[in-house]
Amino acid sequence: MKVLIIGSGGREHALAWKISQSPRVTDILVAPGNGGTSTLNKTRNITVAAEDIDQLLQLAQQESVDLTVVGPEAPLVEGIVDRFSDAGLRCFGPRAAAAQLEGSKAFAKDFMQRHNIPTAAYASFSELTPALEYLQQQPLPVVIKASGLAAGKGVIIAETLQQAEQAVRSMLQDEQFGSAGSQVVIEAFLQGEEASFIVLAAGTDYIAFPTSQDHKRAFDGDLGPNTGGMGAYSPAPVVTDQIKAVIESQVIQPTLQGLADDGLPFTGFLYAGLMIDDNGQPRVLEYNCRMGDPETQPLMMRLSSDLLDLIDAALDNRLASIDASWDHRPALGIVLAADGYPGSYHKGIALDNLPTGGSDLVAFHAGTSVDDAGRLVTAGGRVLCVTALGEDFTAARDNAYDAIRQISAKDCFFRNDIGHRAINRD
Ligand code: AMP
Ligand code: GLY
Repeated sequence: MKVLIIGSGGREHALAWKISQSPRVTDILVAPGNGGTSTLNKTRNITVAAEDIDQLLQLAQQESVDLTVVGPEAPLVEGIVDRFSDAGLRCFGPRAAAAQLEGSKAFAKDFMQRHNIPTAAYASFSELTPALEYLQQQPLPVVIKASGLAAGKGVIIAETLQQAEQAVRSMLQDEQFGSAGSQVVIEAFLQGEEASFIVLAAGTDYIAFPTSQDHKRAFDGDLGPNTGGMGAYSPAPVVTDQIKAVIESQVIQPTLQGLADDGLPFTGFLYAGLMIDDNGQPRVLEYNCRMGDPETQPLMMRLSSDLLDLIDAALDNRLASIDASWDHRPALGIVLAADGYPGSYHKGIALDNLPTGGSDLVAFHAGTSVDDAGRLVTAGGRVLCVTALGEDFTAARDNAYDAIRQISAKDCFFRNDIGHRAINRD
């Protein structure tokens, strides 16, 4: 079986790493892939961008690909699954209509309100004056979000009215986020601890993945700007069995049922980003219509089942009759990033002494490539995610830190406190 994986991040390396272990797979193409996917068993990179749906479709047809797995949100929101399905190709992910859950925060908020799914109080605006008027009435801090896709940068937590007004102006007036900011969601600030809850879904059936948690801020102590994620681990101890049951009954089931009832049945990975308050009540911060990055890296290390069997079962509507099995051990991943990330940074920095890895330790690549001289160099802001299993969180963390400290990479940094919440609870 030949599989096409779309994307170039750590998430896609982890998906390719896992899928390459399936005895049913003979070939994996990754478009465009990275320096890690280029060296995986059975796998080769193809230089087609993840957003170029025409070229991807042509590639899948020319190469007689049996299954396509889409990593990032942009092609899903643009309708890659619709295009592939119309052409008779198997492609795993939601259609564009269902991917709006991530593509439009205003759509997602209206959807949650309509289906009684717990989330922060909000209002959406496309005009400046009513948005500024609404802000006058809101308690602080208040959260301003560009409604469209903004690569994690379109969320501003305003501590003062002035900051809030500036955020709204930057989106609606100055168009700093382009069309993604032509509509804004203004929502109440929620207190608590965040967790990621990901399911593999087909219609109203789903397999719940173990919980996970990422570290969004750039620096130790959860300080500094928001990033795509500086590290992640699974499980997230904040989600007790009782809270997990509440998440499934109040969030996951009504979301999948609501989408089906609205005529937008969801197939693919559905990710609920949650805030869990002191009483254990979860509220949805955001939906993603794909796996998380870096959550995928620890999750794939814990998955014992063949991921292809799960994806096939979803595509064939057989999810109710299949289970996934997981390693009981926690997994923890630490991101190595280029100095300056999430702002501007240099590329082309040589990377040496990467751990060779095994089944308990993998250096998943994100922004890496192999240069003309055959050297592994950095090619992005998030460079690697060194991920390890351990008997407990402390062991997983120590294994990952021991490995990341061996790597020689100039002008790169990583956080020193990944997993601190889990370890404090342990
Ligand atoms: P989002 O892309 O909507 O998940 O927002 C990015 C990050 O901003 C989240 O992971 C939270 O850390 C934070 N955030 C978003 N919405 C809220 C909210 N209503 N209250 C508190 N923090 C929030
Ligand atoms: N780690 C957060 C995300 O993938 O959106």
